[in-house]
Amino acid sequence: MTRISMNVDGMKVTDDVAPRTLLVQYLREGLGKTGTVIGCDTSNCGACTVHLDGDSVKSCNVLAVQADGCEVTTIEGLAATATDSSESGLHPMQEAFRECHGLQCGFCTPGMIMQSVDLIKRNPQPSESEIREGIEGNLCRCTGYHNIVRAVQYASGQLATAADTRGATEEVDAL
Ligand code: FES
Ligand code: FES
Repeated sequence: MTRISMNVDGMKVTDDVAPRTLLVQYLREGLGKTGTVIGCDTSNCGACTVHLDGDSVKSCNVLAVQADGCEVTTIEGLAATATDSSESGLHPMQEAFRECHGLQCGFCTPGMIMQSVDLIKRNPQPSESEIREGIEGNLCRCTGYHNIVRAVQYASGQLATAADTRGATEEVDAL
């Protein structure tokens, strides 16, 4: 067993794990973070995507010991840690998927949202083709991707508006 410590969704956790434990296993079985799901276990589907030190990773492709000392954010922690949380308490990307009907069965949705948040962080105003390229590692069996792409476009618009409003408020405050 190996002792690991990390910050998961804003909480420090310390555990002894077998060295071969996958991060997704540790999150689900060790911490009860079942919002992160396993679709393939072979790094193909993206359903297990979480943020590791702010970047999206497929958590079935990372050992828990590799996340030692890191910040991990799962879909469950996304709203709580988002500075732009809406009144509903959801992250704007979660709101956008709901607003644009970006899910059907919802199995791919946690990973799709985590990947999309990372995409918007790197490219706040992505084109449709950039969105499609950005989520190409995340598979959805249900939606045909159209509404997922619309959701990411919607979220990028909402976040840009929020940033403009914040900037204007700061300018007024500075006067
Ligand atoms: S479960 Fe990790 S990529 Fe499919
Ligand atoms: S909504 Fe069912 S797999 Fe994507």
